[in-house]
Amino acid sequence: MERHVVSVLDFGGQYGHLIARRMRELGYLVYHYPVESTRNDELLRIIRESSALILSGGPLSVWEERHSSVAREAVRTGKPVLGICYGHQLLAQELGGVVGPSPRPEFGRTIVRITSMDPLFYGVTEDSISVWMSHNDAVIRPPPGAKVLAVSEGSPVAAFKLGNVYGVQWHPEVHHSQYGREVLDNWASRIAGLSRGWNENAILELVIDDLRRQIEGLEGGTAISAVSGGVDSTVATAVVHRFARIRLVPVMIDHGFHPHGWIESSVKALENIGIKVRVVDASDEFLEALRGVRDPEKKRRVIARLYFEVLHREAERARASALVQGTIYPDIIESGAMPGAERIKTHHNVATRSLPGLRIIEPLRWLYKDEVRRLGVMLGLPKDLISRQPVPGPGLAVRVEGEITRDKLEIVRKADRIVREEVERSGLAEHLWQYFAVLTSSRATGVRGDRRAYGWVVAVRLVESIDAMTASIARPSWDLLERIASRIVSEVPGVARVVYDITSKPPATIEWE
Ligand code: XMP
Repeated sequence: MERHVVSVLDFGGQYGHLIARRMRELGYLVYHYPVESTRNDELLRIIRESSALILSGGPLSVWEERHSSVAREAVRTGKPVLGICYGHQLLAQELGGVVGPSPRPEFGRTIVRITSMDPLFYGVTEDSISVWMSHNDAVIRPPPGAKVLAVSEGSPVAAFKLGNVYGVQWHPEVHHSQYGREVLDNWASRIAGLSRGWNENAILELVIDDLRRQIEGLEGGTAISAVSGGVDSTVATAVVHRFARIRLVPVMIDHGFHPHGWIESSVKALENIGIKVRVVDASDEFLEALRGVRDPEKKRRVIARLYFEVLHREAERARASALVQGTIYPDIIESGAMPGAERIKTHHNVATRSLPGLRIIEPLRWLYKDEVRRLGVMLGLPKDLISRQPVPGPGLAVRVEGEITRDKLEIVRKADRIVREEVERSGLAEHLWQYFAVLTSSRATGVRGDRRAYGWVVAVRLVESIDAMTASIARPSWDLLERIASRIVSEVPGVARVVYDITSKPPATIEWE
């Protein structure tokens, strides 16, 4: 079967990456290119070699001439092209339509009325649908010969088609857009005639191909790999071990804040597929550096700085010239490292890109989490590691409120182990994003035997989430919560009370610190 590739040309919109995400979820082979940072000749090659193209939204206005040549080239190929938001306006203008200030700029939920039956709306059973919009300009007049497919109050041409070119003013890639998946799927399968080629083999092919480019010139050299025990760094290490001809030195830095059993299980999983990990015990150094530190952000900074110091030391020791990292695609998007995208937050992994003297190898930089998991399974990593809940880089250090001491760490580690055991035993774990214990800085009175005891308050947090940007609290049974509370109070010395955190994100964050 012919391999169909869709290229998303991203003009720097907030949701550009989501288009690729949704299309991959639907099973299409999709690559995503930030237009601003891709050379012009490279863009032309991409346009030429793709089976179909999607032009994304973006912060610019079509009055700025910056991208008209991209639209022109895309249209000239005669290939199926879909424009979304800014891409929709760009295509309309290129084909002779008129773009101007919208009679009513639309932001957020907007009602769109479908005015013409079209394969794009196959399976859409309503005339008016609620979609996500974000625009000041609008297509005021359609290109000559184009058919208007939908309208809204602020968009006289909310969707159009002309030959092989389609445009929609709204964002079908956003969850809030009703029938968003259908619209994308209809365009890809019914209009562009694309086959579904995004499977395990395609993922592997993409990764190997990209890895080959990243390690060019390093053959025979040494790379150090920072294994955190999380899914991403473990799979990244496995990929490089298996497919790159370089000496790999995987290192796991024990900062003393890992959950119970975390290091051992990580080391064993990699050992089982032939990878030996060097565990570096730096826990004394970390505790020392954190003495007297109470502020959460300062804790993070101290831990990150020391982490890279130790890593650098290990790299020198191994005479490494490269560092393997488990950076995945959403990390790059979130950190704003991709030119054109707004900076949202600085991500731990991406911040390390500048470690002096080391080339950074990121074999998973094009993948989303579930794709990393699929790859991990293919490479023989155990399912329980692959489906592990995320643990923040600074580990339990951000789950002990205030100053960290060995005693407090011991308390939170034991409590956390109980939470994990009970949640996993109950079968609830697979529905949760994270489940853990926090040692608060509060104390409360309890009774042990016949004596009053004054001890710590431990908080239990169980949350559901898709991507950690938002989270809702889980609703476990009272039995489960009671079992957790009773075990923690009786098995963990120093704890007098257990409370359950019933705050969603927002307004709270997932972690307490
Ligand atoms: P918050 O607490 O911001 O957490 O709602 C969102 C997700 O990020 C994780 N997290 C971190 N991960 N270093 C990390 O690598 C950190 O400093 C950090 N802080 C929070 C958190 O566990 C959740 O999955």
